[in-house]
Amino acid sequence: MIWKSPVAMVSTGLLTVAFVGVAMSAIRSHGATPAKSGVQRTGLRSGTASTARSTSFFHQAGFKTRALEHPLDPQLEPGDNLVPEKYRPTVMLKAREEFEQERGYRFNKIVRGSKEKKLIALTFDDGPHGEYTVQLLDVLKQTHTPATFFLVGKQVDKYPGLVQLEVMQGHELGNHTYDHVDLTQIPPELIGFELDECDKAIKRAVGVSPRFFRPPGGDYDVNVIREATRRSYVTSLWTDDPGDYAKPGADVVLQRTLDRLENGAIILLHDGIPETVSILPALIAESRKRGYEFVTISQLAKQR
Ligand code: NI
Repeated sequence: MIWKSPVAMVSTGLLTVAFVGVAMSAIRSHGATPAKSGVQRTGLRSGTASTARSTSFFHQAGFKTRALEHPLDPQLEPGDNLVPEKYRPTVMLKAREEFEQERGYRFNKIVRGSKEKKLIALTFDDGPHGEYTVQLLDVLKQTHTPATFFLVGKQVDKYPGLVQLEVMQGHELGNHTYDHVDLTQIPPELIGFELDECDKAIKRAVGVSPRFFRPPGGDYDVNVIREATRRSYVTSLWTDDPGDYAKPGADVVLQRTLDRLENGAIILLHDGIPETVSILPALIAESRKRGYEFVTISQLAKQR
């Protein structure tokens, strides 16, 4: 694992944020070319498991903004779409990338892998899910397929055993916030709290901290970038969102995913969707038939 000193990373982050500047917050747009050092800093940090259990800061603080009036109901599962996912067409992601590159916004980000190699990454968001995660893991184990799980801290606290299983089976973990809130809609001072609480939940479960972060809904702004950079996260987006959360039907999700397979693809799927479990064997088999190899986000980042 290639590692950069925290001091160097912090100073890079401050310069980055300063460079991004006021214009960026005004237009609420997004970061840019991944800094090379960022995509190299992959893998997991070692850490000490904490026994303290956190509760949602939002509940404690009683904030009353639009986003905070709808905390995840602990009785429901992420597959119930408590915080609706938004579909972002690939063309929109590409336009955002070009916009950021034109303006020279730089922070540690991975949107795709190398276009030269037939490596692709499966990512599963919003879990762990009490019913479907174990089924996903079974398929991945049977097919010897590595994946990356972007975990919601609150779910981690509910199902730490599933997170341990993910690590034991060789998968990578990522931070997807504690409450799965739109980070651009909460007070900026709470963004870091969302990141930290998810990090702590993962540390409690498996004793390590993830290096990658994915903002819920793919929504981020200059404040989110600042907090992610301070914590040395590499923000991880995707090339392919087949929209499994909207439940368009298993065949549709499978076909959309296969239609968009390309070198370096990062495929966005979700833990709590039965159709996703059902298409996974066919998706993996057909992808391999076309010559693609599945890797984690860390491995994909190393090939850039
Ligand atoms: Ni999500």
